[in-house]
Amino acid sequence: MTDDKLRYIDRAIQAYYEQNLVSERLTEAILYSVNAGGKRIRPMLLLAVLEAFGHELTMSHYQVAAALEMIHTGSLIHDDLPAMDNDDYRRGRLTNHKQFDEATAILAGDSLFLDPFGLIAQSNLSADIKINLILELANASGSSGMVGGQMLDIEGESAQLSPTALNQIHANKTGQLLTFPFVAAGILAKQSQAVLASLRQAGQLVGMAFQVRDDILDLTASFEELGKTPQKDLAADKATYPSLLGLEQSKTMLDQLLNQAQAIFQTLEEAHSFDQTKVVAFIERLRLNG
Ligand code: IPE
Ligand code: IPE
Ligand code: MG
Ligand code: MG
Ligand code: MG
Repeated sequence: MTDDKLRYIDRAIQAYYEQNLVSERLTEAILYSVNAGGKRIRPMLLLAVLEAFGHELTMSHYQVAAALEMIHTGSLIHDDLPAMDNDDYRRGRLTNHKQFDEATAILAGDSLFLDPFGLIAQSNLSADIKINLILELANASGSSGMVGGQMLDIEGESAQLSPTALNQIHANKTGQLLTFPFVAAGILAKQSQAVLASLRQAGQLVGMAFQVRDDILDLTASFEELGKTPQKDLAADKATYPSLLGLEQSKTMLDQLLNQAQAIFQTLEEAHSFDQTKVVAFIERLRLNG
């Protein structure tokens, strides 16, 4: 089942790039990073939340999930550029600019930021739902979301930040693209404003947890586990939770954030027809034992 979902997500991305090919090299660079084997946590969460509302998955759902994964992949290509985090490895292989060149990597990222809006627009959903999804995805991705957060992250290098300022970086650079799957699934499942607000809140908690986890793993995991060079945050003097609170307190914070998100799913299950089982199983996998 999981394998089928992963296949359909990839198929939706692939199909988009089979239309209107302009530059073979550009498409090759885009698909190099898309097919490098990311965990696909964002699109899989979107599909899990939709199923929790009892919805059968359709091609359009996969297209929205694919659009999200495309933006995320674009963010990684740009994040790795020499002018940003300057990384040589990603998803277990050379970064896009190392495999191709910087100009190609910039353009591959540009494409992966813009194409998803075309993909959602092409889907077989009502105009209302499409506009809502496009608005949410634009807000989560651009200057009011991931890109804005990336700017704060760069500005925060070598600075002594308050917990509030660090929170702001994480909530935007990572939190917003992890909140989107929850909100988007709620929109697709035609949920009320109240349920959408709960989903957004849960997504924000999961998104924050995800970056705290990434910061912890940067310190504690190996290249083989991460598929990217460890201990890069220390080298770049990044503002992270472990640097602010220490490793142990960061791990406690990760658990607390995930517990708070789960409490929201529990409430949704009690008050609405929401089967939290699969969503909670995903959240559980984000815990770091020990
Ligand atoms: C890495 O995201 C970047 C962060 C926002 C922390 P993922 O850990 O989801 O990376 P992939 O998609 O599996 O490569
Ligand atoms: C990721 O933050 C934020 C993005 C928008 C890509 P990081 O810079 O910590 O991600 P990794 O550790 O390189 O994957
Ligand atoms: Mg970064
Ligand atoms: Mg990075
Ligand atoms: Mg990191």
